[in-house]
Amino acid sequence: MSQSSASQQAAAPGSAAVFLPSKDFAAKARIPSLAAYRKLYQESIDDPEAFWAGEATELLWRKPWSKVLDWQEPFAKWFDGGKLNVCENCVDRHALGPRHNKAAIIWEGEPGEQRVITYGQLHRDVCRFANVLESNGIKAGDRVLIYMPMVPEAVVAMLGCARIGAVHSVVFGGFSSEAIYDRLEDSGAIAIITADGGWRRGKVVALKPAVDEALLKYRKIQRVIVLRRCGNEVAINPDIDVWWHDQIATASAKHTPKAFDSEHPLFILYTSGSTGKPKGILHTSGGYLTGTYATCKYIFDLRDEDVFWCTADVGWITGHSYVVYGPLANGATQILYEGAPNHPDFGRFWKMIEAYGVSIFYTAPTAIRAFIKAGDAFPAAHDLSSLRLLGSVGEPINPEAWTWYHHHIGGGNCPIVDTWWQTETGAILISPLPGATPCIPGTASLPFFGIDAAILDESGEECGPNQDGRLVIRKPWPAMTRCIYNDPERFKKTYWSDFPGRYTTGDGARRDEHGNFWIIGRLDDVLNVSGHRLGTAEIESALVSHPAVAEAAAVGRPDEMKGQAVAVFVTLKANFSESESLRQELRNHVGHMIGALAKPDDIHFAPALPKTRSGKIMRRILKELVCTGEVTGNITTLEDYTVVATLQRNIAR
Ligand code: WT7
Repeated sequence: MSQSSASQQAAAPGSAAVFLPSKDFAAKARIPSLAAYRKLYQESIDDPEAFWAGEATELLWRKPWSKVLDWQEPFAKWFDGGKLNVCENCVDRHALGPRHNKAAIIWEGEPGEQRVITYGQLHRDVCRFANVLESNGIKAGDRVLIYMPMVPEAVVAMLGCARIGAVHSVVFGGFSSEAIYDRLEDSGAIAIITADGGWRRGKVVALKPAVDEALLKYRKIQRVIVLRRCGNEVAINPDIDVWWHDQIATASAKHTPKAFDSEHPLFILYTSGSTGKPKGILHTSGGYLTGTYATCKYIFDLRDEDVFWCTADVGWITGHSYVVYGPLANGATQILYEGAPNHPDFGRFWKMIEAYGVSIFYTAPTAIRAFIKAGDAFPAAHDLSSLRLLGSVGEPINPEAWTWYHHHIGGGNCPIVDTWWQTETGAILISPLPGATPCIPGTASLPFFGIDAAILDESGEECGPNQDGRLVIRKPWPAMTRCIYNDPERFKKTYWSDFPGRYTTGDGARRDEHGNFWIIGRLDDVLNVSGHRLGTAEIESALVSHPAVAEAAAVGRPDEMKGQAVAVFVTLKANFSESESLRQELRNHVGHMIGALAKPDDIHFAPALPKTRSGKIMRRILKELVCTGEVTGNITTLEDYTVVATLQRNIAR
């Protein structure tokens, strides 16, 4: 039996299993013991600025900072006065040194093509693309929307923007033209980088048409750069569209990076909130890079000889921080894969791990649950012995999934880092360190260096052990979001108004007697569907924009695969009647307004919705109804009791 699976110990809460880091792993790790973690953690909390400055020093600065942190709550400036180029740190620093011929990206297209891009090649590609951006009139500070498949050019596009100081806003390829339009409007983008399409489950998913549709309403775009990936026919507007390959053909492979202020904006990434439209989470340069660099280094204990694979799409924060900026700042070799995990079958990932000798694998619980369902034979057919570390992100990982992952993928030998963080936090804040922290299935365990995490009750007092409360962060950290783009008021209200001086995460959690953080989930009207955030308000506003819908309410219900599924209650306008075809139409309508990810799983037609006397929809009741089939909770504030009885009857049918 392996060292780690043999290391059950009694210290855990209840009967939870504990997996200690193996001696082998610990011996080689940067942080080799819990005692070493605790000592460094204490120092980092006593003087966070000293810890973060130490990490930042390992990056390349064109001008040193004058102040580590300027904190005007809730607005932070990290490494103020310092200047750097984020792209130079991720690319030139390695390309112009001994990593010149090291693989930066090993890419596989879904149909099976393979490309290995060295740091030297990545440097030439990024320089050419930076020249293309500049020759198309794109300047520092301009916003550029990126809507691309998972191809190396998506990484080149992001790094090219960073290199010239343009602010990228990547939109996940599964989002719709309406979602693109909303993000164009909010960001005021002047250019778009896209592709004809990408491969997904053996089919071409066209991307350019969604951009074209968004541009029927949005008029500020000066240039669209189109990558030819699949060769599918696309419309080209000669006034603004240019082909990537034509532009690159004549561009120089030399480009001198300019230094930008540490607080120069790097990107805006939109994410759902409990009210209104998605918010543009703004991240800046020096602090974000320091955070992603340091967390990648310690939490994945990343080494030059590792082959790192984070399976996230670049359209999400995980793809920004642990596909692009973190691994590349560390000079890592990493895998990039274009397509679906189940194409041609559920063995694809395991085949790739074997073929490329992947040593660190980072994925989401929802994917793990799909693999469990597909069967143990898929991983068993491959030699996965190159793996030394596994990671999980996006939602709490249930102990069954943890145990399967540990045994069937990790061969019982790999620590699993269950990493808790958010789009807003920029980098991982709570996670085991693989050579130091005992792993207990279901807990993200302990805070990273410099992170002062706590659980508060409603009055702002710190909760005792095993008491549920609200997860907050009490000190600023470098990778934290600086603002909601163009909306400082919403920024203050959403994150900084519940408890003065504390960042509110929106998550409920508890801490056990060993200090481990157990994340319960969102406390606000935000759903976590397959590890992706969706606001109930967003889904509801998509529904009511349909001509048949008078009123709608969305709630989450537990789902074995997705974590949460989307259940909606819809009240139709008087001259519309309930039908299966209308149900389908509404599903597609939400898909069109947001993206396939948001399509409701259950649509319940409701003659009326449960409301308070002041007219507020009582989602709590609807939630109980879809989760249990009945309502037992307090309904004394309900305006009309018969509404619930009707819904209950309808659901039971
Ligand atoms: C929300 C953030 C961070 C990248 C992926 C999602 C939930 C995330 C964990 C985890 C329990 C987790 C939280 C958080 N979450 N990781 N390891 N354990 N919950 O980013 O879309 O910004 O969502 O995802 O609820 O608040 P996001």
